[in-house]
Amino acid sequence: MSKVITALSVSVDGYITGRDPGPGRGLGDGSMLFDWYFNGDTPSREFDGFRLSEASARVFDGLASRVGVSLTGRNTYDDSGWIDGGTPHPTAPLVVVSHRPLDASADRLGAEPSASGGPSAPAGPSACGESSAPAEPSGPSASSAGPAAPSGVVPGMSDRQTLVTSGIEDAVAVAQKLAGDKDVALMGGGVVSTALAAGLVDEIVLHQVPILLGGGRSFFQELPHHVNLRLVEAVAAPGVTHLHYEVVR
Ligand SMILES: NC(=O)c1ccc[n+]([C@@H]2O[C@H](COP(=O)([O-])OP(=O)(O)OC[C@H]3O[C@@H](n4cnc5c(N)ncnc54)[C@H](OP(=O)(O)O)[C@@H]3O)[C@@H](O)[C@H]2O)c1
Repeated sequence: MSKVITALSVSVDGYITGRDPGPGRGLGDGSMLFDWYFNGDTPSREFDGFRLSEASARVFDGLASRVGVSLTGRNTYDDSGWIDGGTPHPTAPLVVVSHRPLDASADRLGAEPSASGGPSAPAGPSACGESSAPAEPSGPSASSAGPAAPSGVVPGMSDRQTLVTSGIEDAVAVAQKLAGDKDVALMGGGVVSTALAAGLVDEIVLHQVPILLGGGRSFFQELPHHVNLRLVEAVAAPGVTHLHYEVVR
């Protein structure tokens, strides 16, 4: 059965970015959080161009092969430049959760949503988040039978992207439908925390990098209750320790 997981690179003091992340600025002054993706000698089976240590490749590829949909918060979407149609995973479509329609972001970034960027074919004018009508999410399983998409779902900014503006429960439901038997991977501290608060997260992986960044965006924000975890695996690899937890319910 499809699970909701999150696996992020994080400093020992809990930051998933350094200071001043943003569009064109990546992780701000925290770019070393991603060094372990590239400074090994084992090519990833899942991500072209990634070269990891042997131990990290086993962990990383194992997780990446489970992902059927990436579900990101709006900040991750904006900061990563996916407004041009990109996705964080080579094969999985992207669901973005936000309170705002897409055009608000485009105005803020001074850019129009582009139909030309990214790995997928352009989705056309109606893909710009203008529609307020409930619609089926676009993507691989959009044509399959099932309950209607919740209101606030705007399909495809590109044909592999879906914006959900009606809350985390709806976003996870849309993502799970698109993911089929595969898992939903949460990306962004805000979206992880809101999903944890709603009791929707099954597994958490900290790719913990041995640095204290001293500031940035936190993996975990304030929660209304405790969340108990069970350690499934700990793998000490060069430049990173992989801590895999299961949420205890
Ligand atoms: N180190 C890593 O592995 C890693 C991985 C992923 C991302 N990142 C970085 O992390 C940063 C972003 O993290 P973040 O914690 O700032 O933000 P985030 O989780 O990406 O986005 C938070 C935003 O998502 C929307 N959102 C979240 N929950 C929602 C809900 N329940 N209903 C409606 N909207 C909801 C809200 O946007 P609005 O209120 O504006 O609509 C919220 O402000 C980026 O810079 C990204 O590059 C790092």
